[in-house]
Amino acid sequence: MAKKIKLFDPFVGKEEKTAVLEVLQSGFWASGAGTGKVLEFENRFNKYVGSDNCIAVNNGTSALHLALSLLDVTNREVIVPSMSFVSTANAVLYNGGRPVFADVDPKTLCIDPDDIKKLIRKKTVAILPVHFGGMPCRLDEIIEICDKYDITLIEDAAHAAGSTFKNKKIGSHGKAVCFSFHPVKNLAMPTGGAVTLNGSDSASNADTLKKRRWCGISDRKDVLYNVTEIGWNFYMNEFSAAIGLVQLTKLDSMNKRRKTIARRYYNEISLDSKMEYDDNCSFHLYWIQVKNRPRFISHMKKHNIQTGVHYMPIHKMSLYGSKVRLPHTENASQKVVSLPMHPNLTESQVTQIIKLVNKYA
Ligand SMILES: Cc1ncc(COP(=O)(O)O)c(C=O)c1O
Repeated sequence: MAKKIKLFDPFVGKEEKTAVLEVLQSGFWASGAGTGKVLEFENRFNKYVGSDNCIAVNNGTSALHLALSLLDVTNREVIVPSMSFVSTANAVLYNGGRPVFADVDPKTLCIDPDDIKKLIRKKTVAILPVHFGGMPCRLDEIIEICDKYDITLIEDAAHAAGSTFKNKKIGSHGKAVCFSFHPVKNLAMPTGGAVTLNGSDSASNADTLKKRRWCGISDRKDVLYNVTEIGWNFYMNEFSAAIGLVQLTKLDSMNKRRKTIARRYYNEISLDSKMEYDDNCSFHLYWIQVKNRPRFISHMKKHNIQTGVHYMPIHKMSLYGSKVRLPHTENASQKVVSLPMHPNLTESQVTQIIKLVNKYA
């Protein structure tokens, strides 16, 4: 049988191997203070994104948890899409708030600003859009809503490292923007994440989050320190940062390859419902919608091609059990399938995938 075609696959060269070995041999593997490679990564990523500040953390879930901790969310509401990984909504619960689920724009599967407008209440503190699959959501409309109702914009950019909106990188718009560097993501680490911060309070927010990502430790003077508030153990390790530094130098070229693959999927797949091609998108994933998903997935599996489902809608999970009706989310989440998307795919593999999609979808 032909070699398995993976859904996601990190693009790794000898530079990453050298970087890991260097950290291993240095004996300096991690520090809560976030010095060394972690600090270097934060500075480089901040510059790449064009944000005001950047805090590296151990994963995207922690990034969301920390970002929302900047607001007083307790017993208040945050508007989120249900079409996302569960961390988007969990982050609201970690902070004592209530996620309110909005429907998506069926063309992009990103949160629909028109639906957001219907959900704004006195209790609404923040809007937490997801740039689904790397596709920038309609940020200008969301920013307008935030300004009108004095609500904070926190973005889930777990899929969107390298995406752009109106000529500015995703990460440079919202008050806090959360990235994931999980191995399947566009910028891969063993695990990792970051919060980029923007606005006049970004420096003080960065100080606050630095304390909270290391157990609340503050006022360090040599070996002495104080703890003034509760924090978590969310700091990034040196191995992740070292790999991330290498991946960051390749991010644009890796995303370029993703775009080439996405353009072929878009042009050559003969389905009506498929992810659009947009040059601003970094294509963390590429989705199509099929009528009979179990049958399609099983045909692809028989040909040794891995596919995925992104996502099971969060509002339907037992933990959330929301009775809200989200027609576009519910419709899409029953049909959506992610196709293999990573820079390791060869042209002939892409051709094979397209042929099989056109045959079985
Ligand atoms: C949209 C979204 N948000 C948040 C996360 C959480 O990131 P992590 O797995 O790094 O905690 C993910 C991870 O898959 C995600 O896809």
